[in-house]
Order: sequence, then structure tokens, then C-alpha cells
Amino acid sequence: MREPNSGTEEIIIAPSILSADFSDLAGAAREIDASGARWLHFDVMDGRFVPNLTFGPKAAADLRPHSKAVFDVHLMTDDPDSLIPGFTGAGADYITFHPEAVIHSHRTLSSIQALGRKGGISIVPSTPVSSIEELLPFADLVLVMTVNPGFGGQEIIPRCLEKVQTLAGIRTERGYGYLISVDGGINEKTAPAAREAGADVLVAGSAFFGAEDKAAMVRKLGGGPR
Ligand code: DX5
Ligand code: ZN
Repeated sequence: MREPNSGTEEIIIAPSILSADFSDLAGAAREIDASGARWLHFDVMDGRFVPNLTFGPKAAADLRPHSKAVFDVHLMTDDPDSLIPGFTGAGADYITFHPEAVIHSHRTLSSIQALGRKGGISIVPSTPVSSIEELLPFADLVLVMTVNPGFGGQEIIPRCLEKVQTLAGIRTERGYGYLISVDGGINEKTAPAAREAGADVLVAGSAFFGAEDKAAMVRKLGGGPR
């Protein structure tokens, strides 16, 4: 079981480089560091689990020297197990996968942690919290998707925030240790509801990279002390 955790003292903003200019990912990583955001969200898509393709471990390894941020890797892939060693070698701090894609999710989660990384689980909008109940005692992070994964710039599905509330309640009740992250459609308008529901980490792609003043956007999203 993880160490008990009642949420972070700070709201963490995790800009997603999915919304950055792919011809200058190093520049995007530096912008994230300069903005005061402490995490960098790295969306890995395989063209099968989601209808889009992005990048693999080499891109993360190449980016690593350009950023001090926590590398928060989100695997939206059919076969996460095959990518875990590569992302561990690339310097990922958190590796999150979708239990919807694998049969032996507990084994996948354990294999991330056995490599000395934090293990996360993520659920798409149609997946209920009950389906990951048996994994919750073991998870370092639970990422609630608030859009159907595959693309940045979509609108939040507000109902998904009820799952954040449920996860925060279960954590308190049972003394579990996971962080709660929300991903999809987070902007200045939607961030307050995500924070109120109990999220610790807010992933933001288009809101962050679309902002002229990125440090101001981190503050507008509520980054910093609660
Ligand atoms: C969606 C990705 C998200 C995405 C969020 O499949 O998992 O991380 O980048 O982008 P926005 O913030 O634009 O919804
Ligand atoms: Zn993501």
C-alpha cells in the first residue's frame, strides 16, 4: 500500500506538450520551467488505443536535459508494458497507463514501481471508478480523463469531475496515498471545479500553450499553495 496522502499542499499544473509546436519541443520544455509549472505532461499515443500518434521514449530522453520538471508520462497505448522500460530509461518520474488496455493491471503497475518510478492509472470518461477499485491501494497517481483521449483542445465533460470527488472521498476514508490528476479541457473557467472536486494535479495543454503569458496562466489555473 502507498503512504497515506490527503492531497498535495500545492495545486500542481502539468502543461501537456501535446499542444506545443513539435518542431521545438525543447523550447516548449523551457517555457514550462520558466512558467513556474513544476510538471511536464507527456502524452504518448499509439494510433490504436487512441486515434492519434505522438512520440516515444527517445523524445522524452532528448527532452530530459532541457527541463527540471517532473516528467509525467501518460501512456494512451494498447501495450503499455512494452514502453515502460524505455520511458524509465528516458527519465520519466510518473508513468501512467490505462487499465482499460490491459488484463493484468496490477502487474503493470507493480512493474513501473519495481523500476523505481511512480505508477499511475488512468480512466477514460466511460470507465467508472469502481473498475479500478482493486488497484487504488497500490497507485501513486490516478488520472481522470475529462475528455475522450486522443486530441488536445476538446471541451471538458463536467460529469467526469464526480469521479474526482469519489476518488478524493475513497482516499480519505481508506487512507490511500494516490495523487488525483485531471486531464482534458482544463482552462481558467473549468479549473476551479476540478480543484474543488479534489484534484491535486491539473493537466493543461491548449490553455497553457495558447496563453501569451504562461506564468500568468499557471496562476490563473490555481497553481501554487491551495
Ligand atoms: C488528451 C490528452 C491530454 C491533452 C489535454 O488525449 O491526454 O493531456 O493534451 O489537452 P487540453 O488541455 O487542450 O484539453
Ligand atoms: Zn494526458
